[in-house]
Amino acid sequence: MRILVLPSLLAADFGNLAEGARRAEDSGGDALHVDIMDGHFVPNLSMGPDVVAMARAAVSIPLSVHLMMTNPHEYLTSFIEAGANSLLIHIEAECDVPAALGRIRELGARPGITLNPETPAEMVFGVLERVDEVLCMTVHPGYGGQAFMPEVLPKIRALRARAAAKGRHLDILVDGGIDADTAAQCAAHGANAFVAGTSLYRSSDMAARVAELRARAAAAFRG
Ligand code: DX5
Ligand code: ZN
Repeated sequence: MRILVLPSLLAADFGNLAEGARRAEDSGGDALHVDIMDGHFVPNLSMGPDVVAMARAAVSIPLSVHLMMTNPHEYLTSFIEAGANSLLIHIEAECDVPAALGRIRELGARPGITLNPETPAEMVFGVLERVDEVLCMTVHPGYGGQAFMPEVLPKIRALRARAAAKGRHLDILVDGGIDADTAAQCAAHGANAFVAGTSLYRSSDMAARVAELRARAAAAFRG
């Protein structure tokens, strides 16, 4: 299973987001994670399609766009035209989630489904055949810099087991409070892709942190 590290632009210096995007690529990030918050699905506001377009122009690594939105289905075209390579919507969104996932694929991007910490794994079993990625939130979405929630670990294992039973090699991502230690815990439960904001961007040596996280996760991974 490939191990992926995705720096989260939310933790970059908002005074120079293009430089923040390039820092992710130059540090060995496999993709850049961009958090979109609508002030409704989550209490915070963050960025929109113009920031995704800026990131697309700044880097050549894929863009992983996480839609923390009540109505993601109304913005799929905007984000894909802006350059998103994968679009992660929430199972808790107020839309026809299977249809939105199908539309993401039709538009040429990788569809992903996301679960909040309290949402059981079973809630997404019905859409697993429509997605390439499953994202388990390991904090309550809305803000960077929160503490990792270890109670999510059994859900990661349940999702990996379900994917394996269906013969699917899904990327299972975790997002929130991820550093080398928590990434290793998640990898031991079957996660192979790691979104990290604070632990990478607040380091003076981001490349070393990316390499460390990747090595610890690879050593701990159990599929
Ligand atoms: C939280 C976002 C995360 C966030 C992670 O709502 O979805 O992607 O950037 O930040 P850290 O790594 O600081 O917890
Ligand atoms: Zn995110």
